[in-house]
Amino acid sequence: MKSILITGCSSGIGLCLAEGLRRDGYRVFATARKVEDVEKLKHEGFEAFQLDLSSSESIKMAIKAVFQQTDNLYSLIHNGAYGQVGALEDISRQALDEQFQTNVFGWHELTNLVLPKMKLKNEGRIIYLSSVLGFVAMPFRGPYNASKFAIEGLVNTLRLELAHTNIQLSLIQPGPIESKFRINAYKAFTKHVDMSRSDYQQNYEKMIKRLKSDELADYTLPAEAVLKCVVHALGAKHAKIHYQVTFPTKLFAVLIRLLPARLMDKILNKAGGGGGR
Ligand SMILES: NC(=O)c1ccc[n+]([C@@H]2O[C@H](COP(=O)([O-])OP(=O)(O)OC[C@H]3O[C@@H](n4cnc5c(N)ncnc54)[C@H](OP(=O)(O)O)[C@@H]3O)[C@@H](O)[C@H]2O)c1
Repeated sequence: MKSILITGCSSGIGLCLAEGLRRDGYRVFATARKVEDVEKLKHEGFEAFQLDLSSSESIKMAIKAVFQQTDNLYSLIHNGAYGQVGALEDISRQALDEQFQTNVFGWHELTNLVLPKMKLKNEGRIIYLSSVLGFVAMPFRGPYNASKFAIEGLVNTLRLELAHTNIQLSLIQPGPIESKFRINAYKAFTKHVDMSRSDYQQNYEKMIKRLKSDELADYTLPAEAVLKCVVHALGAKHAKIHYQVTFPTKLFAVLIRLLPARLMDKILNKAGGGGGR
């Protein structure tokens, strides 16, 4: 039975992956940031551990607990993250730092703790939940954009460095997926952005309406669409480097290669709807 460690299993894609991969016969170590979510996962029969990506201590404790259960981790799935939204001029150094602690530095630290054992066995799959926003930018999503661009940069480098091994790295690049992502982004917005002092109040009003709405964005897919790609990335002899999920991701992946940067900017600003999309 192959073992997999997944981060951010309290909701959305992470929870769907944990359930789906367990159904497929993998041994799933499901982790979550909050104790109550770890308890819920245990209640559902998962081997569950607390893992807060913003804390080095928490990451180390989780890895220690997992390696007490298995010496043989086949895969690490980097999923836990949140979207810090807000115009960049309203984003403090602290807000950017927190975004990177969770979305980038935590993922890097976790990779480095798992790699030695994978190298020893010369086998493993590391899967990263990037985004369409890992290769195109959208207004009012700067910190999140930057964090996903950073992940893509790290993965593209690590893949070269591990080319002589049988450890394969995949970037999953979803567009909109059903999850708690938007409501969690709203929480990060209220934590860090003082709307009353911003030049972008009207944009924020549109953005908040979108983040709090239950209405799905156009072309949104259920989390199972990501699961399908992850199943391939885990099981195929040659995992793909990129898995583009949803129509917007596929479209932007083509446009960014074909169009001049200024035209692309116009399209991306239009697609962002001034914060409303
Ligand atoms: N939904 C989309 O449209 C979309 C599109 C492209 C990429 N993605 C990527 O998909 C991944 C999953 O997001 P989702 O859509 O499933 O959103 P979600 O429902 O908000 O789930 C995010 C998960 O990350 C966890 N998380 C946040 N901060 C954490 C921390 N410090 N340590 C550990 N876990 C933490 C959350 O835990 P808490 O419940 O404790 O906050 C939650 O379990 C993310 O990497 C996201 O960037 C999502």
